[in-house]
Amino acid sequence: MNLNIINGRVWINSNLENITISIKDGKISKLGNQDNIPEADVSIDVENNIVFPGCVDVHSHLRDSEFSYKEDFISGTQAAVAGGFTTVLDMPNTNPPIINVKELKKRQNNAKNRIFCNVGFYSSPIRSEDVNQLRLSNTIAFKIYLHKPFKEQDLSDVNLIRIMNRISECDSILAVHAEDHQLFDQNNNHTTESEVHAINRIIKLAKQTNCKIHFVHVSTKEGIEAIKNNKSIVDISCEATPHHMILNTEKTNSEKHYCEPPLRDKENQETIFNSVVDGGIDIIGTDHAPHSLRDKDEGKPGFPGLEITLPLMIDLYMKNKITLQRIYEILVDNPIKRFGLRNIGQIKEGYNADLIVINENKMNTINVNNFLSKAKNSPFDGNQILGVVAKTIINGQVVFDGKKIIASPGTGRVLEKEVDF
Ligand code: NCD
Ligand code: ZN
Repeated sequence: MNLNIINGRVWINSNLENITISIKDGKISKLGNQDNIPEADVSIDVENNIVFPGCVDVHSHLRDSEFSYKEDFISGTQAAVAGGFTTVLDMPNTNPPIINVKELKKRQNNAKNRIFCNVGFYSSPIRSEDVNQLRLSNTIAFKIYLHKPFKEQDLSDVNLIRIMNRISECDSILAVHAEDHQLFDQNNNHTTESEVHAINRIIKLAKQTNCKIHFVHVSTKEGIEAIKNNKSIVDISCEATPHHMILNTEKTNSEKHYCEPPLRDKENQETIFNSVVDGGIDIIGTDHAPHSLRDKDEGKPGFPGLEITLPLMIDLYMKNKITLQRIYEILVDNPIKRFGLRNIGQIKEGYNADLIVINENKMNTINVNNFLSKAKNSPFDGNQILGVVAKTIINGQVVFDGKKIIASPGTGRVLEKEVDF
């Protein structure tokens, strides 16, 4: 089947251009104007809205398996699609966790036919000997939780150096949740020092091993400074979440809306905001961390982010706080480049047809009860923002029409290798 997208303002070469897009066999087959574009089976009039490359989230917890009551592949990828994400990278802190090839393969198989967007899977090796096999089994990247190692996972310097050497050898990347639990205070509060200390420790080990590092959800001014100061020496990148970028402990009840790392004070938050805008922070990751309301009451950290992250950024764009170019970098281009994904992220002939339509003029009130995610909680609940996702097209198929999911599970693919597309 082929499909034409007409009357869009299309994001091409850092500009919005009035161009018609022709899609065939899941790929962008031609860009042109309405007169020179091939006939199509279906023509979609996007009514002068923005057509943007699909966003890529490098930090999603799709849960499933024993945590399916919090989220599963179906609900999690529906949330992704409704939020304008066409590819997400899934975190390994599942139950059971993704710590070896057997669990990775089980998870990849379990996801097939149940996902609406394209999904790559992280793993978290217990044994350094497993790194290469995990890579060969198409793990998208590696992840460690310094403050919460998995059972029998030794994250001492000695063993971490072994793991990092192996990751470096297969030219992959290690994503790090940088918090040192020894520096939590007597009430187990996640202090800013615990983050800064952990970041500095990993930078030191990266210098010794040449392992590429991606720091997830950085929340402190000092942490960002440490990363900035070392970027020319080691291959490191970092990410921030929309909540650490926009919310702080003065505006938001951080006990009710608990996450790890927790929301910080205004000074830290403003630094994160400015660093997202000025390039100090490379990527926005949703840290989509769904929990049931009961689990939240029991203090589980995190909240769903897939459905609100892009609209929150569009709202900032409409308020002239960030450019569309920067949104493209933090939600599309940098995630793709950093994680070695190919053939996506540009509206260009031959590229995978993963596209979203954004209506930046439509006002929306964030309402957790409308989330497709199973998790019905958010510190942004009730916020009125400008910007909605009006359509999501994945692998050349319209999956979301602005209101509901209109494709069947399995429209998305498991990323088997970087060149999957
Ligand atoms: C995450 C989760 O619930 O899996 N929670 C969170 O607050 N960030 C874990 C994590 O990403 O560290
Ligand atoms: Zn996370």
